[in-house]
Amino acid sequence: MKRRTVGRLRSRVHCGDNLPWMRGLPDGCCDLIYIDPPFFTGRRRTITKGDGAFGDRWDGGLESYLAFMIPRLEQCRRLLAEHGTLYVHLDWRVAHHIRIRLDDIFGADSFLNEIIWHYRTGGVSQRRFGRKHDTILAYARRLGRHRFNVLREGQFRTDGLKTDADGRPYKSTKRGRLYFNAQGPALTDVWDIPFLSTVSNERAGWPTQKPVALLHRIIRASSGPGDVVADFFCGSGTTLVAAKMLDRRWLGCDTSEEAIRITSDRLAATQ
Ligand SMILES: C[S@@+](CC[C@H](N)C(=O)[O-])C[C@H]1O[C@@H](n2cnc3c(N)ncnc32)[C@H](O)[C@@H]1O
Repeated sequence: MKRRTVGRLRSRVHCGDNLPWMRGLPDGCCDLIYIDPPFFTGRRRTITKGDGAFGDRWDGGLESYLAFMIPRLEQCRRLLAEHGTLYVHLDWRVAHHIRIRLDDIFGADSFLNEIIWHYRTGGVSQRRFGRKHDTILAYARRLGRHRFNVLREGQFRTDGLKTDADGRPYKSTKRGRLYFNAQGPALTDVWDIPFLSTVSNERAGWPTQKPVALLHRIIRASSGPGDVVADFFCGSGTTLVAAKMLDRRWLGCDTSEEAIRITSDRLAATQ
């Protein structure tokens, strides 16, 4: 089949089912895709204001959920440029099922990370440990060609760390000074980022809204300025807002008119 060529894509947001929209986009047009699809919760999510909602109930059970997800994951692979990366945000309910499907679609050797996003909000159970993390699966379109920027944040936890006259951290060893990176430790695959509180200024009125800080990390790690960042389940548009803040282009899609209205308002308010 002839590959459609990628011109310079304009940032845009689409209201409707993502599958036909994705099918209409050219091969390799995205540098980074992040998706935060329904988690197979069995719930109907309603929003606090207005009359928007989206369903996460699957009459045919897991099989119908996977039948919904698999063609969309296949489209994600087709839409990624050779150096592109896909991030799929899930939780304990289906992360393991989707990882097996992603191994099939991308190849197990294209797997990059299983990121644990740890937060502390919500109650705890008396019958098991509190479930306080989401899982974000990352796959390269082509391992080795994929873009990745090491991010550094926080403090080293090494005992006995000293700083030299220039403020560079080191520890003394038998063979002399062992220097540590002055920008701090490289981020690992366990991320502590607070969940949006109910009174957060960032709240836009969409029930499953994710923090901009989470998307900043993903976008800074796996793309550069001017790149196209896509989110085909964009909800309140967090990914697109983070992309705009970081000088990336964006593609966003959601079935809900209310979600697209919130997204458009947030984008308009973002410098
Ligand atoms: C978990 S939410 C995304 C939340 C988003 N990350 C945010 O920060 O606001 C999932 C979204 O997928 C949308 N959705 C569900 N099925 C869809 C489909 N077939 N096409 C496009 N969007 C869909 C829902 O309307 C919902 O907004």
